[in-house]
Amino acid sequence: GAVVLVVGVTACASDTGAGVIDTVGTIDFVNPLAIPPLARSTMNAAGERVFDLTAQAGTTEFVPGVSTDTWGYNGSYLGPTLVAERGEDVRINVNNDLDEATTVHWHGMSLPAEMDGGPHQMVEPGVQWSPNFTIDQPAATLWYHPHPDGKTEHQVEMGLAGLFLVQDDEEAALNLPRSYGVDDIPVVVQDRRFDAKGQFATDVRGYIGPIGDELLVNGTLAPFLDVTTEVVRLRLVNGSSARVYDFGFSDGRSFDLIGTDGGLLTAAAPMAGIRLSPGERAEVLVRLTPGETVNLQSSPPDLGTSAKAATRNAGDDTLDVMELRAADTLSSIGDTSKKLATIEPLQREDATAERFFTLNGYTINNRLMDMTRIDETIDAGATEVWTVDNAMPLPHNFHVHAVQFQVLRVGTEPPPVELLGWKDTIYLEPGVRYELIMQFPEYTDPDFPYMFHCHMLSHEDAGMMGQFVVVKPGERAGIPPSAHNAK
Ligand code: C2O
Ligand code: CU
Repeated sequence: GAVVLVVGVTACASDTGAGVIDTVGTIDFVNPLAIPPLARSTMNAAGERVFDLTAQAGTTEFVPGVSTDTWGYNGSYLGPTLVAERGEDVRINVNNDLDEATTVHWHGMSLPAEMDGGPHQMVEPGVQWSPNFTIDQPAATLWYHPHPDGKTEHQVEMGLAGLFLVQDDEEAALNLPRSYGVDDIPVVVQDRRFDAKGQFATDVRGYIGPIGDELLVNGTLAPFLDVTTEVVRLRLVNGSSARVYDFGFSDGRSFDLIGTDGGLLTAAAPMAGIRLSPGERAEVLVRLTPGETVNLQSSPPDLGTSAKAATRNAGDDTLDVMELRAADTLSSIGDTSKKLATIEPLQREDATAERFFTLNGYTINNRLMDMTRIDETIDAGATEVWTVDNAMPLPHNFHVHAVQFQVLRVGTEPPPVELLGWKDTIYLEPGVRYELIMQFPEYTDPDFPYMFHCHMLSHEDAGMMGQFVVVKPGERAGIPPSAHNAK
């Protein structure tokens, strides 16, 4: 018979007959939030901080007694949190114990293209890939996940993803919560759907991709967090394939937005909600009073006016994400820093090129991804303005590898506060064009491309992706590695 997934007393039978835990609406939070372990590292003779990650298959009991086939790094679901300091040399030994090839992409990291873990750096089963690079960017919540051409959604849905936290002196000097798992909490949010046998299912799909009816936070269904401090820092990560969230709290309380994809803002910004599309991150501070309980929720995100009808079945419901349970006594941190990072605004006058990207269907500039084609050739160190136009009445987003960008304009308006910091992924409202400014790294390689793409993973897999190389000024693009094998 059908396996009935039951959590607490709120399980409700779905019309297919298979009981499901419904995190839509009011639920009971019965499971302590899992905190991904910090990855162990060692220093090698070359002075590199060395991590080991093994992609592997396993099973996970999201519900006691029901075992779901999942994948993870060094475990059965998700992966450990890597932490490194700005200025450090790191090396990650990536092993593949899966039955299929994978890659590991360091999302948000500025690094040489050959280390980027995009679709050209396939790691075959049983093979080790060992990228190394120097961390040279501000403290931020970055993440890692697979990026094989056309197969990213499946591998991420199975559970391959983890956090990569960059630390630096500027962040360390601020009065902010930073005890990992105590008052500094990773919150990787993923929607999932279980079939009657308790396995992940992705067959219910909106235009934007698979839409789950249950939420996992760090792989925990219906989670609660015991809070022991007055102020908690949540590192919100949209690790979903398609769903867009608008995070806030059940009583409407405001929180301080302190950071976006690529690091801290210049100043803490009070907000009541923050919209995150797949791949985007936000760091927020929330203040609690002793003994209280409040839920992190996602309300139906404003996807832009023309998106409404098209995204039916794409997450138009209020979701309970997790419950924060404050202890009767909370330790005090005092006033948290209001002034945060220094961000030099990139200047339009410094841009040496302007490029235009129109997203339409699953194409960018009317082209589908082609591993053998270099779409853009960019000079090392150049500052460029990229205008990204979502020409459809449907949602997309846009992610650029190797850089953190700043937003110059949203339509005809200056960016809202949540787009004032460093970003590597941005939600694209239907019919709206975005002007982004970015400075490319000095690493050059005419043959190894970086990617730009929609981070709604089924769109990316369908070809909504392009490739750029960074070259010495005047140098021409070469031939990407996979083109050598292509017929
Ligand atoms: Cu998070 Cu090109 O990806
Ligand atoms: Cu898209």
